[in-house]
Amino acid sequence: MGNSSLSYLPNALVIEVPEIDHQHARLFEQLEVFKASCIEHNAFVSEEAEAIFQILVDHCATEERLAAQAGLDFGRHGDKHRLMLSGIRKRLDAMAHPEADVYGLIRYVEYWFERHITEEDKGLGQQLRQSARLSEGKQFVDSFPAQQSSY
Ligand SMILES: [Fe+2]
Repeated sequence: MGNSSLSYLPNALVIEVPEIDHQHARLFEQLEVFKASCIEHNAFVSEEAEAIFQILVDHCATEERLAAQAGLDFGRHGDKHRLMLSGIRKRLDAMAHPEADVYGLIRYVEYWFERHITEEDKGLGQQLRQSARLSEGKQFVDSFPAQQSSY
C-alpha cells in the first residue's frame, strides 16, 4: 500500500502505530472504492463488500497479534471486535434482500469503525507504544557488558 492511502485516514484517528494506521487507512480507502462502485453500478457490489469484511477480519487479527506480542490483556477489546464483526456480517447478509439499503450499510460500517478507533484503538496504540519504549529501554540496559570490579 502506498502512502497515498494515508490521506483517507483523518488525523484525529491516527494512533501512531504504523501497521495499524496503514490498515485503518486501507479500510477507509476501500470503503470509498466500494461506495463509488455501488454508485457506478447502481447496485450492491458483493465482491467488494466481502473484500472489505475480509480486511476487517485480518485487521482485528493484526491488533490481537500485536497485543499478544506486547503481553497486553486484549479480552475486552477482542469482545468489541467480535461484536463489530458480527454486526457487520449480519448487515452484509441482509444485503441479499431486494429492499436492502447499501448506503445505510456503508454509514453503519464507517460509524462502527470510527467509534471503535476512538474508543478502543487509541488506547491500544498508547499501550503498544509504551510497551515498545519499555522493551527498547530493557534492550539498551541489556546491551551493556556485565561490569567486573577491578578495585
Ligand atoms: Fe481494534
